Amino acid sequence: MKLGSRREGFSNKLGFVLAAAGSAVGLGNIWRFPYLSAKYGGGIFLLTYLILVLSFGYALLISEIGIGRMTRRGPIGAFRKLCAHHKSFLGSVRIGGWINALVPMIIIPYYVVIGGWVTRYVVALACNPVSGFHKDVLATVEGKSMPASAAYFQNFITSWQESLIYFLIFLIITAIVVACGVKKGIEQFNKVLMPMLVILILGICIYCMFLPNAGAGFKYYLMPDISKFSYMTVVAAMGQLFFSLSLAMGIMVTYGVYMRREDDLISNVNQVEVFDTGISFLAGMMIIPAVVVFGGEKAAENAGPGLIFVTMPQVFASFPAGRFFGTLFFILVLFAAATSAVSMLETNVHTVCQELGLSRKLSLAYCLLEILIIGTITVLGYSVLSHVHPLSFIEKYQSFDILDSLDFISNSVLMPIGAIFTTVLIVAVIGLERFTREIKNGKKWYRQYLYQLCMCVIVIPCLLVVLLNAVGILK
Ligand code: PHE
Repeated sequence: MKLGSRREGFSNKLGFVLAAAGSAVGLGNIWRFPYLSAKYGGGIFLLTYLILVLSFGYALLISEIGIGRMTRRGPIGAFRKLCAHHKSFLGSVRIGGWINALVPMIIIPYYVVIGGWVTRYVVALACNPVSGFHKDVLATVEGKSMPASAAYFQNFITSWQESLIYFLIFLIITAIVVACGVKKGIEQFNKVLMPMLVILILGICIYCMFLPNAGAGFKYYLMPDISKFSYMTVVAAMGQLFFSLSLAMGIMVTYGVYMRREDDLISNVNQVEVFDTGISFLAGMMIIPAVVVFGGEKAAENAGPGLIFVTMPQVFASFPAGRFFGTLFFILVLFAAATSAVSMLETNVHTVCQELGLSRKLSLAYCLLEILIIGTITVLGYSVLSHVHPLSFIEKYQSFDILDSLDFISNSVLMPIGAIFTTVLIVAVIGLERFTREIKNGKKWYRQYLYQLCMCVIVIPCLLVVLLNAVGILK
């Protein structure tokens, strides 16, 4: 759907759920969730994440879609409209709209970089015999011996020419879809590809259950071990929740704009929430036990953004028809990533179009230029710029490279701030009672009191703690 063109509704209820789920389900579920759960203790991360999704995530998702449906404006316009009659402090809440609009501009460049990695792996699995990635095949990189699949990944990201080419290919795919208008694309593609992705992931999960020693891996992923809990578990789970549900970046507000008043917002939100969380959960089931089986718990705890690229080829190396299913897997992930990238780029183009009064074409060109510049710097962060650690002034983030730093600033700093503004907007500017009536629209709402409790007492204090901890003030 072209944002900024004539406001059309989704063609049917499924259209909304699929479009919102298409934006929500992406690399966040398949690339980010598994590596964070592996790194932050498996079961305890999963438990923290589920609790947060059912309280926070739910409250914010419903709030954002509700704001869009109520004001019929994107984030900046919605905040501006609602704050228009307030002077003083409440009037200044309008900057929340800008923060929400800024976040996807920071995320999309590195999202496209990861999309490029996925594209590379489609080619890698299609063109190489998977046996080369078997967990027992070793290779040496800079004098260090490591599994061949890890060496392959390392060589790829440190070769800037190759990384840059795949980054550009993914960017071009995204740009073409946005330039041509995507309503049909989003709805049609998702109808076929999402179920295919789910079925394939399920199949891989079942396969992993039969790996020798799989029990230890499933235990690590599913049984919470309280001794592994720390503030960072909550900070990471919260950042993941924002990222995965596409919250605090104006995306869901924009989707709300296209929802008709007679549509059942509450049940739509439930479906998006369940679908997105379900896919993350399954992606974890597919990867984490395998990591533990192949490399032990230490390997899981040392996991980083390369996890799926190192582990999944190892899984496919022993999988029946591994080359075929491996290629298919990365193709489906590529589509999931592309639909998310498209929705992010659409939102950015819309913001630039509206706020700078530029034509759609020119806005698209500006957004692409921004992605090109920041994305290239991110790619180079693994090679030419590998000595750059933008957050080295905070002790615990000294080792963060450029991609980690962009990810951290957007997910753990700006998104909590954006979400605080959204909460203040609803509670203090619109009024919680009025907003609740608006959401219900005469229907029954079982989680109404949970929602109100979250908005009034839970969301802001928790976000503040997360924020202070994230920036290193609270230890
Ligand atoms: N939620 C998407 C994912 O999980 C990422 C995304 C963020 C998509 C912002 C759109 C907007 O991959």
